[in-house]
Amino acid sequence: MNIFADCLDRVAHRCSSQQESCARCGPTFFGEISMRMQLATWKEIEQYLESSTGIIVPIGSTEQHGPNGLIGTDAICPETIAEGVARQLRVLIAPTINFGMAQHHLGFPGTIALRPTTLIAVVRDVLYSLAGHGFTHIYFLNGHGGNTCPVKAGCSEFYADQSFGGNRQRPTNLRTTIVNWWTLSSVSAIADELYPRMEGSHATPSEVSLTYYAYPQAVKQADMEPEIAPNGAIYDAAHFRRHYPDGRMGSNPGLACVEHGERLYKAAVAEVADDYQAFLKT
Ligand code: NI
Repeated sequence: MNIFADCLDRVAHRCSSQQESCARCGPTFFGEISMRMQLATWKEIEQYLESSTGIIVPIGSTEQHGPNGLIGTDAICPETIAEGVARQLRVLIAPTINFGMAQHHLGFPGTIALRPTTLIAVVRDVLYSLAGHGFTHIYFLNGHGGNTCPVKAGCSEFYADQSFGGNRQRPTNLRTTIVNWWTLSSVSAIADELYPRMEGSHATPSEVSLTYYAYPQAVKQADMEPEIAPNGAIYDAAHFRRHYPDGRMGSNPGLACVEHGERLYKAAVAEVADDYQAFLKT
């Protein structure tokens, strides 16, 4: 194991817990190669591609998450789960796409959003970059509902380029999928059990719990008034701020805690690990 890079992980995370009890600090190495692409060299990626052409790309958002949720919630959740999967399987984890389609949250400070068309273009370029290196199975692990349609559209743009570009006889070997971590069956079952009627659809206790597990030093306390936030449709940023004044939708994230986050993390890692291995066979 590369001790130096593991120490870098710990410094970035400012973690004082034991490795085996921390979601973020366990090693993600196979042999000498870091499964976090950011900590690998191009020669190591080349070596990885000789034995696997699959990769997990965490994608999130930078947006308000209610009174006690972190701005990075939607990115931290898939990134943390992906790194957990990389502690079990030999799978490379791409840098997290930290910006998402979140125009409706722009009424709250801290939100940085991409237009739908910008995110579609980002996804298309990421696919071309990875496919050009020889990656064949791109698994987007998503943390934000607003990303689902643009990511699918970005994948369709790649396939459309193949179909319209005079390449109708030779099928592409690129396989793409997008998995929303909060809709995993094991995660939904835990949320139903822990937060009946209070999970809601934005700034949920599940996602806030998972971030608290990943970053226990960032746990917040805040009053929730009303206890369960209003829920409804999403339009533009001004409408969102007017109808969901503290940023929550239908949820009570006051129920979030580190212990719940650990349960959700372990369930999500196990299910994504199985799902990713099945995806590689497609
Ligand atoms: Ni979220």
